[in-house]
Amino acid sequence: MANNQNQTPLFFSGSSHTALAQEIVDELGIPPGRVALTQFPDGETGVEILEDVRGRTVYVLQSTALNPNFYLVELLIIVDALKRASAKEIIAIVPYFGYCRQDRKDKPGAPITAKLIANMLSTSGISQLITVDLHAGQLEGFFEIPVDHLHCQSLLAKEAFKLFGNQPFVVVAPDLGSVKIVEKMAKLTSSDVVVIEKQRLSSESVVMRLIGNVANKNVLLVDDICSTASTICAAAELCKRENAKQVVAAVTHGICTGDAIQKIESSTLSSLILTNSVPVFNRFSASSKIAVVSIASLVANTIKKT
Ligand code: R5P
Repeated sequence: MANNQNQTPLFFSGSSHTALAQEIVDELGIPPGRVALTQFPDGETGVEILEDVRGRTVYVLQSTALNPNFYLVELLIIVDALKRASAKEIIAIVPYFGYCRQDRKDKPGAPITAKLIANMLSTSGISQLITVDLHAGQLEGFFEIPVDHLHCQSLLAKEAFKLFGNQPFVVVAPDLGSVKIVEKMAKLTSSDVVVIEKQRLSSESVVMRLIGNVANKNVLLVDDICSTASTICAAAELCKRENAKQVVAAVTHGICTGDAIQKIESSTLSSLILTNSVPVFNRFSASSKIAVVSIASLVANTIKKT
């Protein structure tokens, strides 16, 4: 068997987030790995790895948001192609782990998609996963492979301090599920924590009750996901009703579906800070309130360390 002496890792990207992939390879100072991604006439995905990966460590970036089913299958097929081409180890970088919110059987007849997808990734041939702000820390335990779980709160905190002009703020959890990342943010920024109790009436609407005091204080709402934006907009409204000064939100994953951008624009939020874990394209150009911070260095530094 030929022994590939080249120890430089190769970095491939699925089609979900080529902009982030480019930023990361630029930081690493390596060219992107060449892969042909095509679609057969019947809609199936075609993949051809155009590099010699035998005996090499390879990274594959794919964010499973916006079109999760397609990107997930594309990732699995890329991994299969790499495995069959004798890559030594395959490290998947999934900045947004789709299907993560269905992480328990909350009613009879419900699936646990987070576990299902974790199983699919664990058995696909991936030897390690790098991911960012999982919906719940315990999801790491769903994987049978090592997980490098990165956190964005220090990136988001830097931007928040800029927006608040270095004035102090309280960190608000828009629901009990976000308390863990809120505590992380509060610790990083030496801020107090206030919690909102949220009850979801439908996927589009929520009712909320504030536990704590935000009167005459700047508020930083912290969450992992902004999907329909119902949660952060309702939380901002509640904080304003309770006489908060400026309300800014810092959310890792900007899925922002449907009319989320318009909701954000017409909300009482003064700004929303997102990362580019989910592709940005020009999706946010309709809102002057959205600022995006890049996770490229965070990921590139992790690759350098590993
Ligand atoms: C919920 O558990 C999450 O942390 C987010 O609060 C939620 O996914 C946000 O969804 P939406 O933007 O649709 O309210």
